[in-house]
Amino acid sequence: MGRSFFVVAVVGLLLTGRAWSQECSQTIEANDQIQYNKKEIKVAKSCKEFTLTLKHVGMLAANVMGHNWVLAKTSDYQALAQAGQGAGPPNYLPAGDAKVIASTNVIGGGQMTSVKVDMSKLMAGGDYTFFCSFPGHFVLMNGKFVIE
Ligand code: CU
Repeated sequence: MGRSFFVVAVVGLLLTGRAWSQECSQTIEANDQIQYNKKEIKVAKSCKEFTLTLKHVGMLAANVMGHNWVLAKTSDYQALAQAGQGAGPPNYLPAGDAKVIASTNVIGGGQMTSVKVDMSKLMAGGDYTFFCSFPGHFVLMNGKFVIE
């Protein structure tokens, strides 16, 4: 990519400002102790699109200690987590399930992945939960996704 693209990108970032970079794009970490580093993610309702980046800061491989980030309605998430166990590897989610609002792929230690969430699918004030669908992990790895 050329220099002009770079300049446009920098100007664009300056114009949209800190609010965009902090609120519409966030990172969550997952480790080898079956934990995320956040129990809540808050997103401004002005975000049209939200980008979630998942960083696995552990060492273990995806088949042993895989993590993903799945977004669902709170009322759906436990059933979805159970269905995910049955769905098996590599992504531990039932294919094409409408209960999945957004999901990353499953990654292992040292890896990183991201997903874009179309915020028009979500309601401000709605009750949403994010979780890891790797078998058994949702019990420890879950949190609230708050739109405000
Ligand atoms: Cu996990």
